Amino acid sequence: MNHSIAIKQTIAFIETFFAGESTGHDLLHSLRVFGTASYLAEKEKSDQLFEIQMAALLHDTDDHKLGGDGHSFPHAEKWLNQLQVTDESKNLILTIISEVSYKGAQTETPVSSLASAIVQDADRLDALGAIGIARAFAYGGKHNRPLYIPGEKAEMHKSFEDYKKSQSSTLAHFPEKLFLLKDRMNTPTAKSLAERKHQYLKDYYDSFLNEANAYENYLPVE
Ligand code: ADP
Ligand code: NI
Repeated sequence: MNHSIAIKQTIAFIETFFAGESTGHDLLHSLRVFGTASYLAEKEKSDQLFEIQMAALLHDTDDHKLGGDGHSFPHAEKWLNQLQVTDESKNLILTIISEVSYKGAQTETPVSSLASAIVQDADRLDALGAIGIARAFAYGGKHNRPLYIPGEKAEMHKSFEDYKKSQSSTLAHFPEKLFLLKDRMNTPTAKSLAERKHQYLKDYYDSFLNEANAYENYLPVE
């Protein structure tokens, strides 16, 4: 099986699979994760570029938010069988996918290989920076979350169950998840990429609160 052809066909598969999705899981998210993961693979000198690229493209096809159970990855598996990738590659790709997902502030998400570390980092980097902000508000809008709730306290979810049930505003998602990602990067290259994107989020968050609270100065005092 030719790797370039497999990648091209997988991109076409993902495009069809995510057609009509507007929750931030879509072809372009998959392509950005693919690009960042490829860059990290080069910088971190991984020799598993094909498996990393395939896992990056397929990482969200069985996501828990789209009905996946978090333990089995039937869409990805069926596709890899259809492509006839070797069992060795298929097993690594599925293991990487199983280790990507974020599960809340106080739940660890360990990785078993450099390849997993790279794809997890690439996915998390896409939740930061300018695109990360857009994705958060798109997700919040889709789930009828308010932009922000004055005086709201961030909730540090203790379990994956708590995290999945959360009904916080989109702005609360910043301290609840996005600000924590920088310190949860695995590879040195991703840690350094995360710094700038993290600072951008922080600046945005501070400006947001300034604008949101400005009217308070004009409220009547008794
Ligand atoms: P990832 O694809 O990085 O694993 P998720 O699947 O958890 O991330 O979420 C997909 C996108 O939706 C990310 O940009 C994430 O920050 C955003 N998102 C997830 N949960 C929320 C939420 N409760 N409020 C706002 N944005 C969210
Ligand atoms: Ni993702």
